[in-house]
Amino acid sequence: SEGVVRRERFSGGPARGFLSSLAADERIFAADLAVDRAHVVMLEEQGIVDEATAGEILAALADIEDAGHQALPDGEDVHEAIETAVIDRVGPDGGRMHTARSRNDEVATCIRYRLREDLLSAVEATLEARGALIETAESERETVMPGFTHLQPAQPTTVAHWALSYERELARETDRLLDAYDRTNHSPLGAAAFAGTPFDVDRERTADLLGFDGTMDNAMDAVSARDFLVESTAALASLATTLSGLAEDVVIYANKGYVEVDDAYASTSSIMPQKKNPDTLELVRARAGDAAAGLNGLLTTLKGLPRAYNRDLQRAGGHAWRAIDGVSEATEVAAGAIATAEWNDAVLADAAGEGFSTATGVADALAMAGVPFRTAHEVVASAAEAAGDDVDFETLEAAARDTLGESLSAYVDRETIESALDPVESVASRDSAGGPAPEAVAEQIVTARDDHAAD
Ligand code: ARG
Repeated sequence: SEGVVRRERFSGGPARGFLSSLAADERIFAADLAVDRAHVVMLEEQGIVDEATAGEILAALADIEDAGHQALPDGEDVHEAIETAVIDRVGPDGGRMHTARSRNDEVATCIRYRLREDLLSAVEATLEARGALIETAESERETVMPGFTHLQPAQPTTVAHWALSYERELARETDRLLDAYDRTNHSPLGAAAFAGTPFDVDRERTADLLGFDGTMDNAMDAVSARDFLVESTAALASLATTLSGLAEDVVIYANKGYVEVDDAYASTSSIMPQKKNPDTLELVRARAGDAAAGLNGLLTTLKGLPRAYNRDLQRAGGHAWRAIDGVSEATEVAAGAIATAEWNDAVLADAAGEGFSTATGVADALAMAGVPFRTAHEVVASAAEAAGDDVDFETLEAAARDTLGESLSAYVDRETIESALDPVESVASRDSAGGPAPEAVAEQIVTARDDHAAD
């Protein structure tokens, strides 16, 4: 009987479980039903399958969909199990569904179909995170904070400037995901095993029914290539890496009391009753490791595979699915943590001038008054060496006499120096395009809002 033939096809003996991807294929169960429907509609329109049979197959597919993935018969994968379930309902004519195709083009189509939806969810998550950062930039435009290089106090900036620095990077992550989407969005269906088919298939029609932008030109490429998975997973790994930096910043800032992570995004200790830890952000940071591992796993799986289809490809999808789930979730959590964080203005204002972070601004003020920048740098460095964090007009004056052999007042008045030494004034003075001055940040917010709305 048919049943016996089919059961023999999925043999595998003791390796049956090893061969089967049925459980993991739940991810593409709905995609496979969509692909089956499109294929059957096209076969009927092309006169390859008669209308009555096509109708019975479509009815069987609806029934299989209602029953769900769990109700599928055993099989090597979801494609075979659904075909078996169709034949169980329709009889031998159900086997016409697999005319002019192979599981090779079928699975490649299913993965692309499902991945499109997942990429769009990841894009949504980046938009949420960007929205939260733009809101933070709006409300913290005047909140000065220390800016760091080498994690040492460097120059004062604002929380808004910091937030937009991540928003801009995340905007490029959105772009990368959308680029990956564009190249994922082509249909392999009708490539058959890799070598085409003698049947008069209409590949454009199935591509259209499944919402693809077009078909893949070459049948061997269509079933073999998984570069769309590499590109998508790489975009996710890049996104996760960006988020890990943001998470790390918030962990450090929470440690310094600059920011308080909302209780909903914090955790406590099982022994130390006073503890409130930014655990969610630590886990966001760690998801970058998972994503990088996924990309590495995928590249290593694909490396050196010969043309055309090889069963290794069955292990490729998992890396991408885990990356997309893990990174999308991390992005949503990061967005929530940012949206609910409380920035501590007073602590930030005190910290903004620590470590003589206004030194560059003082050197800039001297240079603007005509002292060569390198000389100005030396004057300020020698004042810093003498007075540490307590540099003021007097210590600078002494340094100028030593270094320049001249009085500071030949160049600048006391007021100019005192203003340069003030973190708030220092920030306000750096109003070049892209800078932290509130007016410069206002322009960056306009750009960010426009891009956010367009994406
Ligand atoms: N389940 C397989 C995959 O995910 C598709 C089956 C193709 N099998 C084959 N022996 N050609 O890649």
